[in-house]
Amino acid sequence: MSQAYLSIQSIHKTFGSFTALKEINIDIQKNEFICLLGPSGCGKTTLLRIIAGLEKPTHGRITVGGKDITTLPPAKRNFGMVFQSYALFPNLTAYQNVAYGLQGRHFSKKEIDEKVREVLSLVDLTHIHDRYPSQLSGGQQQRIALARAIVLSPDFLLLDEPLSALDAKVRVKLREQICELQDKLGITTVMVTHDQEEALTMADRIVVMKNAEVMQIGSPEQVYNEPSSPFVADFIGSINFLGEDQMNMAVRPEHIRIAAYGSMQGIPAIVKHIEFRGAFYRVLLQPVVDFSGAEEGQQLTVDVSAHVAQQLKLKRYVKVTIEFPQEKLINFGKEAVVSL
Ligand SMILES: Nc1ncnc2c1ncn2[C@@H]1O[C@H](COP(=O)(O)OP(=O)(O)OP(=O)(O)O)[C@@H](O)[C@H]1O
Ligand SMILES: [Mg+2]
Repeated sequence: MSQAYLSIQSIHKTFGSFTALKEINIDIQKNEFICLLGPSGCGKTTLLRIIAGLEKPTHGRITVGGKDITTLPPAKRNFGMVFQSYALFPNLTAYQNVAYGLQGRHFSKKEIDEKVREVLSLVDLTHIHDRYPSQLSGGQQQRIALARAIVLSPDFLLLDEPLSALDAKVRVKLREQICELQDKLGITTVMVTHDQEEALTMADRIVVMKNAEVMQIGSPEQVYNEPSSPFVADFIGSINFLGEDQMNMAVRPEHIRIAAYGSMQGIPAIVKHIEFRGAFYRVLLQPVVDFSGAEEGQQLTVDVSAHVAQQLKLKRYVKVTIEFPQEKLINFGKEAVVSL
C-alpha cells in the first residue's frame, strides 16, 4: 500500500479515569471511504472529534499527507463535517446555509454564487434553494448539511451518523447519494455508524470497534466472511456459533444447507419457528438425535430462499436434514471440533 493519507497513530484518550480510546491505529488512503462501526459508547464519535480537532488526544498523533496536525485547531484543518442532527441555521435559507462558510473568505460574490449553485446541484437540491430548514424534509436537510460540508472543497469529510435520524427508505436513497458524491469528488471520508448494513454497503473498509479498541479493519467482504473474533462475527450479520461454549467456530445462517429429511447425509433437525423476511425465510431449527424427541445441541438459525422454503413446505415441526459446507465454516483460530 502507498503511504497513508490520513494516519491515526496510537491515539489514546482518557476522560478522568475512564478510557474512551485505547491505542488506535488506522491508516486511511486518499479517496478511501472508511466506516467506524461499533456499539454505542465504544468511542466512535470521540475518535471523529479527535480527527476534527474538536477533542485533544491524551497521546498519539494524527497526520494528513505526512504532516502532523495533532495540535492544529479545527479551523486550520481543512475538513467538512456532518452530524447526526442537521444543525442547519434555522433563520437562513438552504442557499444561505451553504454559502455561510464561504463568506468572510477571499471569494468574490460571483465565486460564492457559482460554488453554492454547483454543490446544490450535486446534492440535487437546486429547486429548493430558497426554502428554510423548517420547510425541508429530514433527508433534504441532511443533503444541505452535506452540501455545506463539501462547498469548501475539504481534504477530508467526517460524517457522524448522518443517516440515523432518517426513515428507512430515505436512508437507503441518501446512502447511495453519499457514495456517488464521494466517488465523484474523490474525497477521503470517515463515517461513523452503528448500523452494520450501512457500513457493509457504503465503506471501502470498515473499522470495527468495541470498548475503546479496534477489533478488526478490513473490506466489507473480509469482516463479513473472515471475522477475526466472535464479537465481529456477531456484530456484523447473524451467526451461529458451533460447539458447546467454546465459540471457536461459526457459520452464517445463509450457508447452512437444508434439504428434505433423509434426502442427503447430514444432521436431522426439526423446524421450531419460521419467520417470513420478504426475500427469504429465517428458520429456527433444533437438531435432534432421532425423532423420538431427543434434542441434541443448540438451536440454529438458517436463512432459506422463498423458493426452497416452498419446495420443502417448511413450517413448524417439519423434519429436515441439514449440513455445514466445510468451506463456509468460520474458524476463530483454536483447534476447532464441531460438536453439535
Ligand atoms: N466529554 C466527555 N467526558 C467524559 N466521558 C465522555 C466524554 N465524551 C465521551 N465520553 C465517554 O466516552 C465513551 C465513548 O463515547 P462516544 O461518544 O465516542 O461513543 P460512540 O461510540 O460515539 O457512541 P454512540 O454510538 O452512542 O454515539 C462513552 O462512554 C462516553 O460516555
Ligand atoms: Mg457517537
